[in-house]
This record gives sequence, C-alpha cells and structure tokens, in this order.
Amino acid sequence: MKSRQIYTFFLPDLIPEGLLNDSVAVVIDILRATTTMTTGIANGAARIVPCVGVDQAHLTKQRLSEANLALAENTSPSSVLLGGERLGKPLPGFDLGNAPETYSPESVRGRTIVMTTTNGTRAMDRCRGAKQIVIGSFANLSTVVQHLSQSQRVALVCSGTDKHVTCEDVLFAGAVTDELIRSAHGSDLPWEINDQAELARSYWRQSSGPDRFPTMDSILAVFRRSLGGSNLIAQGRAVDLEFAAAIDRFNVLPILDQRSWEITAAPM
Ligand code: MLT
Repeated sequence: MKSRQIYTFFLPDLIPEGLLNDSVAVVIDILRATTTMTTGIANGAARIVPCVGVDQAHLTKQRLSEANLALAENTSPSSVLLGGERLGKPLPGFDLGNAPETYSPESVRGRTIVMTTTNGTRAMDRCRGAKQIVIGSFANLSTVVQHLSQSQRVALVCSGTDKHVTCEDVLFAGAVTDELIRSAHGSDLPWEINDQAELARSYWRQSSGPDRFPTMDSILAVFRRSLGGSNLIAQGRAVDLEFAAAIDRFNVLPILDQRSWEITAAPM
C-alpha cells in the first residue's frame, strides 16, 4: 500500500539535509511570527517580505520603496512598512512590532510589510528549497490542513524560541497531524509519521477534551507555561496569547514564494 509522510521537526536545526526538497513545509511560530503574518495577509497586506536580519530589513524596505517610486510617481514610500521584533519588543525606526492585532486592515491593507523576527523569519530561511512553503498558525488551522490533505509529503517546521523547543509550536504541529490522520481514516493513502510527529500528536490529544479540539482555555494554559508565552506575559503582552489561541479566525493560506521571497495569499 502506498503511503504519505508527515515529518515534524521541533526545531529547524533538526531537519536532515535535503529532506525538504519534495515536501510542503509549514513554518510554525505561534507566538507570534506566523500568527501575525497570517493576520496581516488576511487583513489585506499586499505581501510580507521576511528577512533574517534587521539591517537586511532596512535595506529591503529602501529597495522596495525606491522600486515603487520608480514605477508610479504617486506611490508613497509609506506603502512599504517595517515590522517585527527583537527580544519580543518593537524595533527602533520600525512601523509595526509583532503583535497580531496591530496588523489590522487599517494598518496593512494594500501595503508591503518587510518583517524580521527572532525565530520565525529564520525558520523560513531554513525552508528554502522546499517544494512549497506555507505559513501556519491556529488562526488558519483548517485552511492549512485542507491544503496539506492534497500533499504527498509534509514537513511541519517548529521555529522554537531562541533554539529551544517550545510547547505552542509543537501543539500546533500535533493539531495538524491529528487532523490529517483523522481525515484520511479508512483511505487507501494513510499517513506515515516520524517520532516527533507522534509526540506532537500525543501532546495535542492529551490537551484535548472529549471534543475534537482542546478548548481555548487549554490551549492558553499551554501557551502560559511555555518559554515564549511567559516572555510575552512578562512584557505585558498576555493579549497576544489570547489572540494566537483562537482557532480558525481566518480562511487564508499564506504562501512564501521562493523566487520573489514574498508571502502572499494563495487564491482560494
Ligand atoms: C519570533 O520570531 O521568535 C517571534 O516573533 C517572537 C515574538 O513575537 O516575540
């Protein structure tokens, strides 16, 4: 019998060389990069350009603003914004931090956002060469699962926090794995999963109540215990945990195109 594969990696450093080549990679940074990017794209950002470094982000903004001005005289340079964080805090000279609710339609619609974050944009960089790169979060869980259900090989890439495994990313990987396996039940194309996917799935199921999904409270309890979550609470950003714990806020599939290195919404 033929099978399909789900690989989970608790950290980008755990991905074996070459494994992503024929995989759809889902980058996961629940607190907060991929939640915030999903929100920005759902709220109408024209594109998000992920950068690893702060200097690279400034240079990219400058290049894109100049290109805009050359193309259309009346395009304001402010149509390109800088967003992101270091140590969880907004960066000097940046227009936006990394709090998902600040990526509102009023701030992002029609704009290009050049983003750099501590772990999330680095994990995206590690996924170069994958068959496709998808941005995943609880905010678009069902849309991501629906898309992956058509795939042969899936790699769920947890960004972690400062090179440490982090519970909220593993929880999401478990949710995706569980949903894919459930929806393939009885099919002649079952999913094979690696040990990290097995662990993530058990973690998700252990957090679940009698229903299919854990409650928002049980997801929040996981976030509050995690390294990334407790860092954000210490900075007065508990509200971001609540935002990130809500499942299926948006029906949007952000895809990172590897040639342009831009995240845009896949046509639905
Ligand atoms: C990350 O990329 O690690 C996150 O954006 C961190 C954060 O939001 O504080």
